[in-house]
Amino acid sequence: MTLRARLVAANWKMNGSRVDNARWLEAFRAQPAACEAVVCPPYVYVEQVVSGLAGTGAFVGAQDLCDRAAGAWTGEVAGEMLRDAGVQWVIVGHSERRAAFGETDEIVAAKAERALDAGLRPIVCVGETLEQRSAGRTASVIAAQLDAVLQRCTPARLAAGALAYEPVWAIGTGHSATPQQAQDVHAAIRAQLARHDPAAAGAMRLLYGGSVKPGNAAELFAQPDIDGGLIGGASLVAAEFLAICAARAHG
Ligand code: PGA
Repeated sequence: MTLRARLVAANWKMNGSRVDNARWLEAFRAQPAACEAVVCPPYVYVEQVVSGLAGTGAFVGAQDLCDRAAGAWTGEVAGEMLRDAGVQWVIVGHSERRAAFGETDEIVAAKAERALDAGLRPIVCVGETLEQRSAGRTASVIAAQLDAVLQRCTPARLAAGALAYEPVWAIGTGHSATPQQAQDVHAAIRAQLARHDPAAAGAMRLLYGGSVKPGNAAELFAQPDIDGGLIGGASLVAAEFLAICAARAHG
């Protein structure tokens, strides 16, 4: 029923080396992804991945960008520079950046806007902690995170990119959300978008992230509002990432 094309993104986080990346890229080139794929390496390896993915149809993403325009911001990287380096996508507001690097909802919203202004496609991440879920606050936490972004970017603009639901308790833990838990949140996100713009809500790709593996990808991706995934640990092995890209619904 859905016309949304599946999107699967690899978030390498702070992993990789020139040698390991070259091996990964060689394996990827041997068996191009079965769906739209984005590979997000650390900044210093962007150039290597841009050239390694040339001709495969896959896109390169960054894991972050600065929320300011170019200038005197030591250590930061502007969206325009990422575009200049051949990057098309960028992860914004990953929970590790929110929790460990102090990114507030407002900073995340500013980064999403900067990314769009620079011509990048943002993958804006939202997600609740275990404590918030246990307290029954999942829906309100996600709604507030999304609302902050919607204050600055319309759903129609955001639909150039994607939104990723990543429950913090599922990231890197081996305990994925169940397909139904993920679907419930995805449906709520789409409903929130639809209150602003039904057409954009229908077009927006909503990715699930958090311990997605080749063994659980198919049942997650079979949910009506799950349009792909943001893959951390399993994306470090090219064969696993490719298997997730190729995951098919049962039957
Ligand atoms: P994971 O990470 O697949 O290792 O759980 C997902 C993410 O943090 O994007």
